[in-house]
Amino acid sequence: MINFLDLQKVTQKYSEEIHHAIERVIDSGRYLQGIENEKFESNYAQYIGTKYSISCANGLDALIWIFRAYIEMGIMQPGDEIIVPANTYIASILAITENGLKPVLVEPDIETYQIDDSKIEIAITKRTRGILVVHLYGQCAYTDKIGEICKKYNLKLIEDNAQAHGCKFRGERTGSLGDAAGHSFYPGKNLGALGDAGAITTNDEKLAEIVRAVANYGSLKKYVFKYCGRNSRLDEIQAAVLDVKLKYLDEDVAIRKKIAKYYIENITNPLITVPVVNDWDAHVFHIFTIRSKRRDELQKYLNDNEVQTIIHYPIPPHKQECYKEWNMLSFPITEQIHDEELSLPMSPVLTRVEVESVVKVLNRFDYRE
Ligand SMILES: Cc1ncc(COP(=O)(O)O)c(C=O)c1O
Repeated sequence: MINFLDLQKVTQKYSEEIHHAIERVIDSGRYLQGIENEKFESNYAQYIGTKYSISCANGLDALIWIFRAYIEMGIMQPGDEIIVPANTYIASILAITENGLKPVLVEPDIETYQIDDSKIEIAITKRTRGILVVHLYGQCAYTDKIGEICKKYNLKLIEDNAQAHGCKFRGERTGSLGDAAGHSFYPGKNLGALGDAGAITTNDEKLAEIVRAVANYGSLKKYVFKYCGRNSRLDEIQAAVLDVKLKYLDEDVAIRKKIAKYYIENITNPLITVPVVNDWDAHVFHIFTIRSKRRDELQKYLNDNEVQTIIHYPIPPHKQECYKEWNMLSFPITEQIHDEELSLPMSPVLTRVEVESVVKVLNRFDYRE
């Protein structure tokens, strides 16, 4: 079977350095809030191009803490509206509702799968306070138009960079394009830890101070609690592992792009739609998506032919039970993507032979002379 993602193989690539880093932490006797977090925060901030990077427990928390900070700063209040793409992983939406804010779902573009910037302005009301752009599948969702809208209506621009480590928009990294960004280092991500991990990047000193506090019980000084926070800190071991893998992120992203290019140039089956890429800097192929009207049949066929695939995501947020109040809403483009999307094997350890064989199998799907 060609795995969708072989995490054991991914970790093996850096095995020696990772083992050294973990041993160093074990021997140090310091497992939280130590030098490993300091180092990783500094290196990650430098990599992204922001003044601050604040580590936290996971990507969902990273987004939760950003909105929480805006509430603490008086910039947002419960009931305020945040514009967000309708087709995203549930975490983007949960971070908004967790803070008592109201997600306003906007349809994506069918070619890029990113929020359709021509549909944003019409969704703005007196209560809109921010736009959460999600760089879905690893492709930059930011556009000049979104920047202009944020300026015109005085909205905060928040980036969900969970899937886009390494991605650039005109030379600048995603995660540095807006006012604040949430990052996930879930093991399968382009930069993945050996467990849960996340970070917030920003140039805003006040926001940086608040997110650091709320992710640490609300405390900036030991046993002094300014906010009602939670324990959402990142272990020293995970910070040390991430710091090792960060050095290889660009190399790994380059391999992903090579695989994506091969897929795009060689998948010729008319029953399959491959991604449209206008700017290769602006896509880091966390996920390589294809679409097919016969997606479920195609997935079964691939599985029967030893190719493992995943659907990102089978049910859109507005159709989930946890958001019952939206179940009757209709987002046709979002629903079409969720009905047709299929993710092919993609990772920096996929071999040329494996990629060629995925393409061969795909091109034979329903082939008739
Ligand atoms: C787009 C998006 N946002 C947020 C998250 C949440 O990250 P985590 O799983 O680290 O909580 C994820 C990933 O899992 C994601 O894909």
